[in-house]
Amino acid sequence: MPRIGVLVSGRGSNLQALLDAATANALGGAVAVVISNIEDAFALERARRASVPALFLDHRGRAREDFDREVAERLREHEVELICLAGFLRRLSAAFLAEFPGRVLNIHPSLLPAFPGLAAQRQALEYGAKVSGATVHLVDEGLDSGPVVLQEAVPVLESDTVESLSARILEVEHRLYPRAVRLLLEGGYRLEGRRFMLEGV
Ligand code: GAR
Repeated sequence: MPRIGVLVSGRGSNLQALLDAATANALGGAVAVVISNIEDAFALERARRASVPALFLDHRGRAREDFDREVAERLREHEVELICLAGFLRRLSAAFLAEFPGRVLNIHPSLLPAFPGLAAQRQALEYGAKVSGATVHLVDEGLDSGPVVLQEAVPVLESDTVESLSARILEVEHRLYPRAVRLLLEGGYRLEGRRFMLEGV
């Protein structure tokens, strides 16, 4: 069973979606370790409840490369072959990404390349976009800029607040992320430039 490492910083609802999919044999792999840079992130509690090793690694007062090197070491110890960022609110260094080429996924609450970075749902609302959504993409050195694996649109309603839009996007995220993980682990894809293409489709 392929082993997955999940990096988190917060409440971990996307981690939960991955754990639930694994339990239902719908992920194509197992979550082998969860690492948080925030000590009281609820995501760590979700990992413990699922009997998955839950590690806190403090990034404060450390150079980015130094912190990233420790994260990479822990991931290697747990023999992961895919890394999922799930609300992990830090950029990863080029050195880290070079250790896991094409094997780091992220989920983002907008239709990239629109609204990268923090508070994507607020950005979409304030811009006046009529459609936003969720994106799962491979991580490269840029900000939310790697090849798109899956995307799904969510309409922005006139009655929406940041909270209501975020909640509808989150429902989509929870469906999209396990599907994307499964696609990556099944391996039936190729990259043409930055286009993620499914084989035989
Ligand atoms: C999710 O909406 C995720 O897409 C977003 O943070 C939230 C984490 O929620 N990520 C980003 O904005 C990354 N730029 P969760 O901790 O409940 O999964």
